[in-house]
Amino acid sequence: MSTFWSTRTAEISPYTPGEQPQDQKYIKLNTNENPYPPSPRVIQAIQANTNETLRLYPDPNSRKFREKIADYYRVAVDQVFAGNGSDEILAFAYSAFFNPGDPIAYPDITYSFYPVYAQLFDLHPRLVPLTDDFSIPLEKFNDPDVGIIFPNPNAPTGKLLPLNAIVSLLDRCNRKIVIVDEAYIDFGGESATELIARYPNLLVIFTLSKSRALAGLRLGYAIGHVDLIEGLNRIKNSFNSYTLDRLAIAGGVAAFEDEAWFLESRQKIMTTRQRITNNLRQIGFDVVESAANFIFIHHPAVEAQHIFTELKKRGILVRYFNLPRINNHLRVSIGTDSDMDIFFSNIRDIVNKSLSENPHD
Ligand SMILES: Cc1ncc(COP(=O)(O)O)c(C=O)c1O
Repeated sequence: MSTFWSTRTAEISPYTPGEQPQDQKYIKLNTNENPYPPSPRVIQAIQANTNETLRLYPDPNSRKFREKIADYYRVAVDQVFAGNGSDEILAFAYSAFFNPGDPIAYPDITYSFYPVYAQLFDLHPRLVPLTDDFSIPLEKFNDPDVGIIFPNPNAPTGKLLPLNAIVSLLDRCNRKIVIVDEAYIDFGGESATELIARYPNLLVIFTLSKSRALAGLRLGYAIGHVDLIEGLNRIKNSFNSYTLDRLAIAGGVAAFEDEAWFLESRQKIMTTRQRITNNLRQIGFDVVESAANFIFIHHPAVEAQHIFTELKKRGILVRYFNLPRINNHLRVSIGTDSDMDIFFSNIRDIVNKSLSENPHD
């Protein structure tokens, strides 16, 4: 606390990122990073651009990267916005499409940055509770005068919504922005991008941090009607014109030139996800059916916080949220097969020890 702080600085509750320990070598299953290295073409492109041109500012419009995205999704380049990670695009979207004091609707259990931005931009959250099985009840988003944001698949549950549910939502809610955060869509879902031509209030946001294994490069993009993209650009250019640096632009372009890498690595992650889901269910865990690169798990007889602490002692990091309704769950990112084998044998051991120390009737 400092007397130099603004009221906003003093009152905000900032987002808490998952741990990025610098001391010990952990098996990191806590921040939904991709366990595989990015495409070698991305590394080559970054190396090729690591030269004297770094003295020059990058293209403020990230045109080459946006052209790649536009080709990939078969949309016009002016329907694409590029940002320094999707978190930045989310922040710009809150500012571009909401006035201070406006309501914003999102699920009660969701990506924990949404409430932080709501507080930062003086919006009033309208929380829509997930059902008991952790589905987002999209039919409860029914006020056309309230802007909406939700991830698909949802985080931290991994649960996917079918596209037809999103279509019904868009038919109902057409007077304010509807933001679909597709950070994890590549791991088993169908993108809402194909609906953009029909719904001028739909903005779909993506990241290269997960399915393209580029969390360290900070790249995201959004696709929507040209007027929405222009709105985002007005905010971006009132904040920082050069949000993507030269190396990020080069790496982002290369990432979309290696479809074989993309298809192979996401398939590996989806196969491992299925295997670990089956294994955990066999030893008594409830595992939410996931379409993401993580799973959301719960053991009926062993507390999540205990499992979290014991795993950490053994050098395995997962994510525990001490929040209402989910404080007995763990979110576990999908690692390589060998990471997941180590994870599984440790969690099995922790559960067995706990059950033998506290036997149930
Ligand atoms: C639902 C969701 N949206 C957005 C992000 C942000 O991704 P990035 O800023 O790395 O693009 C994350 C990261 O974990 C996420 O889980």
